[in-house]
Amino acid sequence: MKIKKIIFGFVCVCLFLSAIGGCGDATDKEYTFRNAGFEIGTLTGWTAEGTAFTNKGVSVALKDKNGVRYNYEGDFFFSGAESAAGNATGTLLSEPFKLKGNGKIGFLIGAGKNTSKCYVALVGEDGETELEVRANYEFDENDMADVLHRVILDGSKHTGKTVRVKIVDKDAGIDGYNYINVDDFIVNYHGSESPTGKIFLANNYIEENSYKVNKRYRLSYHVMPQIGWCNDPNGFSYFGGNIHLFYQYHPYSSAWGPMHWGHVTSKDFIKWEYRPVALAPDSGYDSNGCFSGSAIENDGKLYLFYTGVNAGDKQLQCFATSSDGFTFVKSGRNPVINERQLGPGMTAADFRDPYVFKKGGVWYLIAGTRVSGYGNLALYRSANLSEWQFVGYMLNVSDPAAPNYRLTGVYECPAYAVVDGHEILICSPQNLSAKGTEFENVHSVVYMAGKLDAATGKFVYDKFGEIDGGFDFYAAQTMNMPDGRTVMTAWMQMWDRTFPTAADGWAGAMILPRELSYKNGRLYQSPVREIEKYRKNEVKASRREIVDGATVSVNGIDGDTIELEFSIEAGNAERSGVRVFAGTIHETRIYYDAATGTVVLDRSRSGVKISGAEANGSTRSVKVALENGVIKFRIFLDNTSCEVFVNDGFAALTANIYADDADTGIEFFAEGGNAVLVNAVKYDIVVS
Ligand code: FRU
Repeated sequence: MKIKKIIFGFVCVCLFLSAIGGCGDATDKEYTFRNAGFEIGTLTGWTAEGTAFTNKGVSVALKDKNGVRYNYEGDFFFSGAESAAGNATGTLLSEPFKLKGNGKIGFLIGAGKNTSKCYVALVGEDGETELEVRANYEFDENDMADVLHRVILDGSKHTGKTVRVKIVDKDAGIDGYNYINVDDFIVNYHGSESPTGKIFLANNYIEENSYKVNKRYRLSYHVMPQIGWCNDPNGFSYFGGNIHLFYQYHPYSSAWGPMHWGHVTSKDFIKWEYRPVALAPDSGYDSNGCFSGSAIENDGKLYLFYTGVNAGDKQLQCFATSSDGFTFVKSGRNPVINERQLGPGMTAADFRDPYVFKKGGVWYLIAGTRVSGYGNLALYRSANLSEWQFVGYMLNVSDPAAPNYRLTGVYECPAYAVVDGHEILICSPQNLSAKGTEFENVHSVVYMAGKLDAATGKFVYDKFGEIDGGFDFYAAQTMNMPDGRTVMTAWMQMWDRTFPTAADGWAGAMILPRELSYKNGRLYQSPVREIEKYRKNEVKASRREIVDGATVSVNGIDGDTIELEFSIEAGNAERSGVRVFAGTIHETRIYYDAATGTVVLDRSRSGVKISGAEANGSTRSVKVALENGVIKFRIFLDNTSCEVFVNDGFAALTANIYADDADTGIEFFAEGGNAVLVNAVKYDIVVS
């Protein structure tokens, strides 16, 4: 019985292993050819012609050199630079073998700048007839040019034939990288093309340097980069049982730089796990950056749509896919929306942040742009995600009823969601002028509720409002959860200001994700319900008078990593509210201002000063009506962040606050009259 079980188990494991690429020696031998990974330490099994391929290129390549990690497999790889002088040419031919399995050969490649002269070919038994070719199309001189990354030589059309692998170097030039590095040929390869040099380099850098980040301003239940700079959230989605969040990322410094996509996943929006960098600017069409974009699931794959910025700073739309949600392969058709497909009046200098969604069985893509100098959103349509047609512009920016919606900036980072049956268009207009207490920031995030006319592309709306009335909220993006919720995240920071954490080796974080609902003719937002699982140490307070000029504090209601809920009866006070992050010299005031009917967030005495155009003034406010004389607050603090929700998500205000460690006080106050603290409850938020 036992033996049977073991044999059965072994057979199962073998079946599984053979499905993914090999089961021990027997299966490996069936598929591979001699010395396919150069592990003999010489070119044994290969036939060299010309001068480019010599044993020297294998035997010396035992170790990484000059601080470069070559990313090879096993002990040896073939290094063209070590083999011969750069101007040497020649070929290296494997022994013949029968191409079995899926016919794909995965191998590692580096250098080989001139892809028409340096390449790997699948050739016939004669060693001459080139059946398929794969070169280092990802080559980038400025970065990791020698480092190996995995690519696929796709011979699936030739299975059953006797073939050979031929490595070709016809490049007699001496201008650098005119040789080829290769390693680890795997026949019947089932994996994907893999981290390019730049992704490898980024992950390596993060791993080796993150410990240097100063922790004093770090957050505990918000997403932030391990090290370096992040801005917009990207690709917010649910795929393969995980919530995925990507972000604009420059790991190498705490300032914006060539954009990568950082990646975290979560099961509950609160506890996040860092994943390898998903996209790096490693292709010709995105060598200046992988800008913002979105994610969708199609045919069991996660698709990341993003803006590739090329060396000429042209912004064109691209995508990458993944079967497992962690390793992405850029489409061979990139850019899938190129310059020829721009709408009238648009230029490729401002064409970015694709948001893709499906409506009525058709894929749509919204991109931020400028049309004849004025910000707008462009709509594209596709049946297959690769071929896109321009539909039209979504906003009527010359509508005289809405003159301040005509702006010379770009409507950046669009998103589209259907919330409680209402179509919601979200975007981040640069330089939207203020209107009363709305759009007080230089750059804002707005939503429109209306209807998309799929034929013309127009989004006709009856509501245009601000999403968050605070200081630090930008580039909001939504995703749909399988349970039907629309959840929004955003960059919890802002352009055009100073970043106090930059000196600590990092900058940028995401808001606590918010569930959206639509009622009373407006968008409501409340923190994802999962946060409640992390509440600890509840402290409650009941009705207390707050006398004009005095403060009320409650034993146990304090802290800087907390949730605080309370209601205040404004009474006859001019201002009534709370001081948080309060210490001997610092305080952040959040209060109802009776004269203006607004909730005000005041960070004039919060701590480290933030300066720059976006730090215009030290207060932000939103119009809010009292309900039976009462106003309700729900506030989340996380060491250096403050997110305020008013009247059950009617309004929200978000800010970065850099107080001292000791500034953990909380006091309720009234000024210019008396108020009443109706009730309060505080929880510590503990994410272990
Ligand atoms: C918005 C934005 C996007 C762009 C990205 C670049 O914050 O300017 O429009 O894709 O940042 O990092």
